Amino acid sequence: MDEYSERVLAIQPTGVRKMFDMAGDDVISFGLGEPDFQPPKVAIDAMHQAMLSGHNKYTTTAGLPVLRQKIAESLSHLEPEMGEENVCMTMSGTNALLNCFLTLVNPGSNVLLPEPYFPLYGPDVLIAGGEAKYYPCLFENEFVPTIESLESLVDDKTVAILYNFPSNPTGATLTAEQRDDLLDFAKRHQLWIITDEVYDRIVYDVEHVSFLGTGYNRTLMINSFSKTFAMTGWRIGYICSPNNEAMSQIIKMQYYITACSNDAMQYAVLTAFDEASTYPEEMAKEFQSRRDLICSRLNSMPGVSCHIPKGAFYVFPKVEVPGMNSQELAIELLKGGVLSSPGSAFGESGEGHLRFAYTVSREDISLGMDKVESVLKRLRGD
Ligand SMILES: Cc1ncc(COP(=O)(O)O)c(C=O)c1O
Repeated sequence: MDEYSERVLAIQPTGVRKMFDMAGDDVISFGLGEPDFQPPKVAIDAMHQAMLSGHNKYTTTAGLPVLRQKIAESLSHLEPEMGEENVCMTMSGTNALLNCFLTLVNPGSNVLLPEPYFPLYGPDVLIAGGEAKYYPCLFENEFVPTIESLESLVDDKTVAILYNFPSNPTGATLTAEQRDDLLDFAKRHQLWIITDEVYDRIVYDVEHVSFLGTGYNRTLMINSFSKTFAMTGWRIGYICSPNNEAMSQIIKMQYYITACSNDAMQYAVLTAFDEASTYPEEMAKEFQSRRDLICSRLNSMPGVSCHIPKGAFYVFPKVEVPGMNSQELAIELLKGGVLSSPGSAFGESGEGHLRFAYTVSREDISLGMDKVESVLKRLRGD
């Protein structure tokens, strides 16, 4: 008999982590996707205060009603009927994703996932006992899937489709028309929509287009305060849905995953909502300047082309160096002092690309791009 479960033996560390582990301290890091900002000071103070006031206990499984109500209100422009019962606090977006898959997926069923992808989706589906089927989001189509590609994958075992806009790793966003087409596809096949909108407050030049508020009841949104309030290390997020029955199943599952979220931290997030409500937009303003800088630098390099992303803080350029794949290229860049992620770490259709997270200062972006340019020139012989 095997000593370990088939499920753990079937999953591997992600390619992003592997590159990160290879890097020394002296590189300019465009590797991991976390804001280089600290959480709002009012939230840190509120957490401290909450702990001193005795909020160091279990909360109800779904979390503090006052915070859940606040979150529901923040989404009332999309779903005016939602209240605290439609929100379940989790210990991160990562936790929220796993909960959704464990709640919806049976062995033998499958889930449609984007590719290039956030690397947790596939293993999560596998852990839940299902099969991951990947739909391509290609450069040629601004990283938005075509309905034909979705139709060619869906079958009678498909239970859900995951959408992720703004996207990690591509930064792609949707127009309302594109969202409606993707929604119609899900409706036509009666699929659950799991919509990962953790970058909903980090958008540039456009309004975020959500899958909430469409009237389709089989929709679960996952969200997180990791990016919104730069709280990656705090591990707090939520699942919400207008579907009360789905929420009661989600909340039941959450109990068996973490029992509840973190007591004091929920008070801190509540304070962030009340007293730092424009924090994400202020961060996004800085990210936008960085995006402009990194995209103009990349697009001026021979063999490199990138779309200008309208959301998240990643750029996913096509980089052509004859005879080299993205993994080899990322290793060469690392030797040249720059940490990036190979496109292949986000699935086969990411091959030929690199991901740069522009979560470093503008000075470091300029310095890092100088290094990328000189490595590429050397490799391409330009
Ligand atoms: C698309 C996407 N979803 C979910 C997450 C999970 O975020 P967290 O677990 O920090 O809330 C991330 C983190 O990078 C992400 O990029």
